[in-house]
Amino acid sequence: MGQTLTEKILSDHLVEGELTPGEEIGIEIDQVLMQDTTGTMVWLQFEALDLDEAQTELAAQYCDHQTYQFDFKNTDDHRFLRSAAGTYGAHFSRPGNGICHNVHKENFAAPGKTLLGSDSHTPTPGGLGQLAIGAGGLDIAVAMGGGAYYVEMPEVVNVRLEGELPEWSSAKDIILEMLRRETVKGGVGKVFEYTGPGAESLSVPERTTITNMGTELGATSSIFETDEKTKDYLERQGRGEVYTELKADEDAEYADEIVIDLDDLEPLIACPSMPDKVVPVREVAGNKVEQVLIGSCTNGGYEDILPAAKMFKGREVAKHLEMIVAPGSKQAGEILARQGWTAEMMAAGVNVSEATCGPCIGIGHVPASDSISLRTFNRNFEGRSGIEDDNVYLCSPEVAAAAALKGEIIDPRDLADELGDLEAPGVELPEKYDGAKTDLIYAEDAIDDELIKGPNIGEVPLQDPLGAEVGGEALLKMEDNITTDHIIPATSDILKFRSNIERLSDFTLSRVDETFAQRAKDAGNGVLVAGENYGQGSSREHAAMCPMYLGIEAVFAQSFARIHKANLFNFGIVPLAIDEETYEKLEQGDDIEIVDDVAAGVESGQQEFTIRVNDEWDATATLNASERERRILTAGGKLPLTKQQAEGG
Ligand code: F3S
Repeated sequence: MGQTLTEKILSDHLVEGELTPGEEIGIEIDQVLMQDTTGTMVWLQFEALDLDEAQTELAAQYCDHQTYQFDFKNTDDHRFLRSAAGTYGAHFSRPGNGICHNVHKENFAAPGKTLLGSDSHTPTPGGLGQLAIGAGGLDIAVAMGGGAYYVEMPEVVNVRLEGELPEWSSAKDIILEMLRRETVKGGVGKVFEYTGPGAESLSVPERTTITNMGTELGATSSIFETDEKTKDYLERQGRGEVYTELKADEDAEYADEIVIDLDDLEPLIACPSMPDKVVPVREVAGNKVEQVLIGSCTNGGYEDILPAAKMFKGREVAKHLEMIVAPGSKQAGEILARQGWTAEMMAAGVNVSEATCGPCIGIGHVPASDSISLRTFNRNFEGRSGIEDDNVYLCSPEVAAAAALKGEIIDPRDLADELGDLEAPGVELPEKYDGAKTDLIYAEDAIDDELIKGPNIGEVPLQDPLGAEVGGEALLKMEDNITTDHIIPATSDILKFRSNIERLSDFTLSRVDETFAQRAKDAGNGVLVAGENYGQGSSREHAAMCPMYLGIEAVFAQSFARIHKANLFNFGIVPLAIDEETYEKLEQGDDIEIVDDVAAGVESGQQEFTIRVNDEWDATATLNASERERRILTAGGKLPLTKQQAEGG
C-alpha cells in the first residue's frame, strides 16, 4: 500500500514504534526552533541536562514575542538567549528581525526535514513540505541534545482543494472554512495533508497561512506536497538547493477526506472569541471598527501586506480608527520599504510597526475597552489582546484593509462596488527576497561562548518522584476550552517573569480566579478540574511548570489538548480523564483522593483509577499514557528522568 507524504517523512525519521495511528512513535528531529518566551527555559533545561552542544542539524533561537524592552528583565532574557545560542551552537535572530515562523520559513525551512519548535505555530513551514510540530520546551531541549521526539502517530487526513480562489477570497478564507467545518477540536490527533488542483494553484506564502493556522484546529501538523511553486519560492529566497520533490503515493490511503471547492469560497471572518466562530463577512457587516491590525505569523508576509498596501494607495483610512501594520519579518518590511509601499501606507494613515508578535499576545496596541478590533492573526481568545472585554475578529488582509477604509466591517467586494475603482489586489511574490541578513547571527559567527544570566533568570524547578498518594482539594473547577493563556497569561507585565518560575507562578490561572495562586500556596497541594480540551492554545510549558511549582498533583479533565498534556507529563502532573457525569458532579473545594497506589499503578500500566470524593462517592478516572509517559510521570517529570538516564549510562 502506498504512503501519504506525512508517512513518508515519518518513515525516514522513525527510531521507535510503528506508523499505526494512536500508537506512540519516536522520531529523529533535524531542526529545532525556539522563540523568546519559551526559549529561556529550553536553554536552562538544556544546561540542567549537562549537554554541551546542539546535536540537531540546525537550531535557531528567535526574539519575537516580547521585543519591547520595558525594563532590564526582557533585555536580560534576550542577552541570555544570545549567549546560549552562541555557547551551544544555535543561530540567533535579534529582536526586530521578525517572528520565528516567518524568519525560519525564509532562512532555514527545508522540504522533507523534521522541525520541532517550542511554539504552537511551528507547523507553518508545512507549506513547503517540511513536517513541523510544536512541542513543550523540555521536548525541544531533549531533541536538541540528540534524543528522539515522541508523539502519538496521527491519522493523516486528505484535504482536497478543488477549483481556484475567486477574486477577494484568500488563503485565510480556506483555513477559516476548515475551522468553520471542523472546529478548534477537529484536528486533534491528525495531520492535514493538502492536495488537489486548488492546492497547486496556491503560492508558498498562501500555503503557509493555512499550515500556520492548522494549529487552531488542534492538529499535530499540516503539510503540502512540494512542486514548482515550492522550488520557485526557495529560489527567490536564494535557497533553491534545498528543494526536493515530495508527493504522496498515488495509492496512499488517508484516514479521511475533506473536500473544499475554492470557487465557492467567499470572504470569511472569525467572530469573538474563538477562531472557529466563522461566518461570512457580510453577516457581520456594518459593525463599527476602532482598530485594525495586519501582521502576525499567519498574515505578516510581504505577500500579505502588499494586497492591503495596494488597497490603501491613494486612499485614506477612516479617521476614527487606528490601522497598524506589523510585518512578520524584517525581510518583508524591508522589501516593502524599498519598493515604496511603506510610504504609500503611511500616507494613507497607516501606523507601521516593527516586526514582532507583540499585539498578538497583548504586548502593545491593546484595543480600547469593549471595542471591535479586526486582526489578520490566528487567535482571538478572550483577553489575549491585553484587555478582558475585547472583541477581536480574525480575517484576511483584504477584509482588514477594507474595514480600515470604510471604518466598519465590510465585505471587500461590496467596498469595491461602492468605490468603483478598487481592484482585487491578488497575490504577488517579489522577484527576489533580498532583505539584508544583518539581524541574524549565524552559529559560526557567535559572539558569546558562555551563558550570561541577569538577576531575573531563575532556576529550573524539579519535582520529586511520583508518590503512592495523589490528590487533594479541587482548588479550581473550570469549564471547556481553557487555554494556556488562561493558565499563564502572555501579557508583558507577566511574561517578563518567564525565566523566574517562583515569581511567574504568582500569576497562575489568575485570569480564571485571582485568588488561585495564593490558595494553592496555602494549601500546599491540590488538584484541578476542567471540562473538554483543557490547555488548548500555545506550547507554553510554563502552563504546566507553574501549577507543578504550586503543588498541583493531578488535573481531572474531560479531555486535554495534545501539547499541554505532554507538558503535564513532562512536569510530573498526572492528567486524568473523567466522564461528563463525574465532571458535572465535581465541585470546587471537593476533596478528591485517588484510592489506588498511584506510583505503583502508573508504573504497572494501570489505566483506570478510582477517585473518592469527600469520602462520600466514588468515580473512575482514566490515565491514557504510553509506557514512556508512565516512566516520565514515575520519575517526577522528564527532566529528572533524562538526568537519571544520563547518570545511569
Ligand atoms: Fe507570535 Fe502570535 Fe504567531 S504570538 S508566533 S504571531 S501566534
